[in-house]
Amino acid sequence: MRLKPDEQHFFNSYTNKLLSEHKEIYEMQKFIQHGSTTTFEHVMAVALMSYWLSCRLPFRFKDESLLLGAILHDFYLYDWHEDDKSHRLHGFYHPRKALINAEKYFELNKVERDIIDKHMFPLTITKVPRYRESLLVSVADKIVSTKETFKRK
Ligand SMILES: [Fe+2]
Ligand SMILES: [Fe+2]
Repeated sequence: MRLKPDEQHFFNSYTNKLLSEHKEIYEMQKFIQHGSTTTFEHVMAVALMSYWLSCRLPFRFKDESLLLGAILHDFYLYDWHEDDKSHRLHGFYHPRKALINAEKYFELNKVERDIIDKHMFPLTITKVPRYRESLLVSVADKIVSTKETFKRK
């Protein structure tokens, strides 16, 4: 999976600007997502996979919303492996927690909110992605999560 030079340029300039303006995104470095992968590494990998796919599909995507939604989709800031009452049913509830957190720092549009809130579809069967950006991030998340879970150190 490789971006073309112009795609890489867009991806780097968008993510670098976002990270320089929003240091809170780095909070995700404190938590493990799958295996030895931090949540920060996970969301950046999902952003890259989503963007790579979007460049290869015959539809137009809102690239900036796609990247922002992908980067914030798991912005829930806790370690879901810890045995804590509030972490039960993590798979079902963390999209809403991530959305509430993200809205403290960002003015999100409806596409970005939908990406975060619906990314666990079809586990969260009543939350069907409404935009092609949301569906794409949901697919990219599953591909990346599977790779991370089975990655050998
Ligand atoms: Fe998630
Ligand atoms: Fe995820």
